[in-house]
Amino acid sequence: MKLTATLAAFTALVTSLGVSSWSTDSDAFKPLTIAAYGINATFIGYGARLTHLYVNDKNNNPRDVVVGYDDPVMYTNETSDNFFGAIVGRYANRIKNGTFNLDGTEYDIPKNEHGGLNTLHGGDTGYDHRNWSVAQYNTSSITYSLLDPDGFQGFPGILQTYVTYTLLANPPRLTTRIVAIPLDQDTPVMMSTHIYWNVGSFTSSNILKDTLYMPYSDRIIPGDSILIPTGELQSVKYPWTNPAIALNFTGERPIGDGNGQQCGAGCTGIDNAFILDRPYPELADQPVLQLYSADTGIKMKVRTNMGGLQLYNCAGQAGTIPVKADQKQNGVEFIQKYGCLVIEPQDWIDGINHPEWGRRKEQIFGPDTRVSENWAQYEFSTE
Ligand SMILES: *[C@@H]1O[C@H](CO)[C@@H](O)[C@H](O)[C@H]1NC(C)=O
Ligand SMILES: *[C@@H]1O[C@H](CO)[C@@H](O)[C@H](O)[C@H]1NC(C)=O
Ligand SMILES: *[C@@H]1O[C@H](CO)[C@@H](O)[C@H](O)[C@H]1NC(C)=O
Ligand SMILES: *[C@@H]1O[C@H](CO)[C@@H](O)[C@H](O)[C@H]1NC(C)=O
Ligand SMILES: *[C@@H]1O[C@H](CO)[C@@H](O)[C@H](O)[C@H]1NC(C)=O
Ligand SMILES: *[C@@H]1O[C@H](CO)[C@@H](O)[C@H](O)[C@H]1NC(C)=O
Repeated sequence: MKLTATLAAFTALVTSLGVSSWSTDSDAFKPLTIAAYGINATFIGYGARLTHLYVNDKNNNPRDVVVGYDDPVMYTNETSDNFFGAIVGRYANRIKNGTFNLDGTEYDIPKNEHGGLNTLHGGDTGYDHRNWSVAQYNTSSITYSLLDPDGFQGFPGILQTYVTYTLLANPPRLTTRIVAIPLDQDTPVMMSTHIYWNVGSFTSSNILKDTLYMPYSDRIIPGDSILIPTGELQSVKYPWTNPAIALNFTGERPIGDGNGQQCGAGCTGIDNAFILDRPYPELADQPVLQLYSADTGIKMKVRTNMGGLQLYNCAGQAGTIPVKADQKQNGVEFIQKYGCLVIEPQDWIDGINHPEWGRRKEQIFGPDTRVSENWAQYEFSTE
């Protein structure tokens, strides 16, 4: 079992390596903007996160389509939601009991959710809580880097990660590419972006009438009352439990149709791991998700190299977090329940504890494997 390294040990390691890819200065809160024709986006180093993303609506007015805070320091507020727009890692989503076995060694990592029952998004100090450094920045592209030492949050081996956000025009689109390179040991790696979308830009108080289309999401990975996989894989088309078709978005339907089910104890809505069932890379060019708001006419098409998508329709929001100043309209001033849709392109949730799913090559990386690469593209149009 590994001891969790302290921040002091981490700093000493980074200093000894003579690298400068870790900074604790306030630059981590400095907003940096990139742009291309018809789209611009702003980021901060704290969590390497997207804070603003403007695209034009059907009337050619720029609209900010992501959730975030106006004041970057608010992302450190521990009683608010601080995954907004962040990179989550080194292992996104939930790990049952905060333990896993890798090649005969048991690892015990911080159990930071559900009163200590499981790990969420990499532990107490996940990548969303870390100060990433700017490695490259120009008018249309920004790259952040993070060096994660051996043993930090209990994970084995040094992991060097780069995330590059790029904007392109005609059509306007954002690409996210997260490359994680294990330098010395085998380790679980499941990186993800964690962007909270509202392509209606808060014209309405919730997104339930916006439509969702996921042509390849034939199956989900069902979770228990704390959203830990039960181990079974379930069809959304021919399920053997009732209600039958809440999560069948293989045709375009309002997001609200997915609400006829539980998202964990005491929760009604979508917080589910969808499997992307398609031949890859043969169908790499095909969008795996389409989101559309009639309020703004903005349609977003998502492509990714990942084998799954975690979706969450913000059932936990309760009207306490303000929308950004540029999003206040029609009396909508706070993020309401079902006020957003989180889309996390990633591999199968807790696959490290389910060898029977055969996800090892997608989730365990080391000096002798290819690097981990999470790619996604968000393309915008209006109608
Ligand atoms: C990130 O930077 C802020 C501002 O300098 C600092 O307060 C905080 O401790 C840093 N976080 C980590 C995890 O180093
Ligand atoms: C991004 O676009 C919005 C809307 O056009 C604009 O208000 C803002 O100034 C732009 N940001 C930057 C830094 O160019
Ligand atoms: C932190 O977030 C909580 C919950 O959203 C809010 O009540 C509180 O005012 C925030 N703290 C600060 C300093 O803004
Ligand atoms: C749960 O984690 C604890 C360590 O925190 C460990 O002792 C125990 O064996 C684990 N339980 C299972 C079922 O893996
Ligand atoms: C910005 O940097 C990226 C990555 O190095 C490069 O591919 C691109 O051409 C650059 N764009 C401009 C406008 O300089
Ligand atoms: C699932 O959705 C598809 C596309 O709309 C539809 O053809 C099919 O009948 C649905 N199946 C079930 C079981 O709801």
